[in-house]
Amino acid sequence: AGGNGDSALPGRPPLPGEIADLTDPGNREDPYPSLEKLRRRSPYTPFDGLLVVGRHDQCSALLRDQTMSAARDRAPLSPTPRGPRTRNFLHLDPPEHTRYRRLVTGAFTRRKVDGMAPWIREIATDLFRAAAEAGTLEVVDDLAYALPLRVICELLGVPFEDRQLLQEWSSELATALDPPLGTTGRMTPEAARARAGFVHYFRRLIEERRSAPRQDLISHLLQVEEDGHRLDDDDVLATCVLLLNAGHETTVNLIGNAILALLRHPGQLDRLRADPTLAPAVVEEVLRYDAPVQMTTRVARRHGTLGDAEVRPGDTVLFLLGAANRDPDVYRDPDRFDIERPAAPAHLAFSAGAHFCLGAGLARLEVAIALELFSTFLIRPRLRDGGVSYKRNLNLRGPSRLQVDFDGVH
Ligand code: HEM
Repeated sequence: AGGNGDSALPGRPPLPGEIADLTDPGNREDPYPSLEKLRRRSPYTPFDGLLVVGRHDQCSALLRDQTMSAARDRAPLSPTPRGPRTRNFLHLDPPEHTRYRRLVTGAFTRRKVDGMAPWIREIATDLFRAAAEAGTLEVVDDLAYALPLRVICELLGVPFEDRQLLQEWSSELATALDPPLGTTGRMTPEAARARAGFVHYFRRLIEERRSAPRQDLISHLLQVEEDGHRLDDDDVLATCVLLLNAGHETTVNLIGNAILALLRHPGQLDRLRADPTLAPAVVEEVLRYDAPVQMTTRVARRHGTLGDAEVRPGDTVLFLLGAANRDPDVYRDPDRFDIERPAAPAHLAFSAGAHFCLGAGLARLEVAIALELFSTFLIRPRLRDGGVSYKRNLNLRGPSRLQVDFDGVH
């Protein structure tokens, strides 16, 4: 840990110890000790303009607070963007947010999502069969990337043959979703290139669908009309980029985190194998125990106080979702992975309030199916020694490699 000297923003003092520890790439594998320290100090102002919140009650209340704006891309702490710009509804506040979000909620209703179960199962089964033939499974590439990308491409109407390109761009762009702490959260030239790549790619696809509509979400967005209002190409483009990214890198991390937790708790993997109906409960416990989106931010619009901390208009509020999910005031023995945990208040892995994850139902379904197949398909799966490494992302955190050995398939 440490190394805070060179991680300060220009003109700012070095990051205080706990924040420096959190951002230290050496702690990516286990950020929870630094998250615990930050939760104990919450609400905490490490430097002017930033308020860090990590308690469950505080996060839960402030994420629902209308005076907290999601227009964080316009906050003073936000890095200056490079390259072409798209603005999606994740960054909008009501009433604009409500209007844009409503245009796509129809694609994610309970009924629509449940209807996808059979083909999601088919895709996942094919992926496990391919691993069985290969005799080895590298969870991140062979399963975690392949499944959600395939699903979101199908939904949007994006050709899956472009998988390699889309995967590269999304993982580059994911680094830019880190919060603005020292060296993190900067729009690197690679991330800017990835965003430009998406913009160019979707512009072409939007043109194609405009002249020859199909039964997909892009065509739907181009045709939909709300209160006499149509989306222009830039709105459709921003929504496509949002859906592809929000629905992709996050689910990849959930699959990786889940399989890792099960392999490290073989008794619980046995429980799941004996009773596959436990799969949704496993997904919920992984979301709590090892959140795929570790944090989010808002910008304060008004003057206020939180405990003894002062909140000023323009302050960035950093919500440590991964810390809130292990708050001992809410969860008994919070650092324990327990798929049969008694009912407790909802975890915050999908956020809360107006921006609550639109794809939560779809992600839950995809991952429950993947875990059920994982538990029943492979004989004696185990983690290879040295088989885990982590992505560099602080926020969309998860394994970059997860090598599993097994003795055959059922
Ligand atoms: C928003 C997490 C999967 C689409 C969010 C937010 C979180 C989140 C934390 C809110 C951020 C905030 O409050 O600032 C996750 C996790 C996932 C996942 C952990 C998987 C495990 C998906 C999928 C889709 C999706 C599969 C779509 C296919 C969205 C969209 C938003 C969103 C569109 C923006 C909602 C809004 O601004 O109103 N997600 N997500 N997500 N998510 Fe997800």
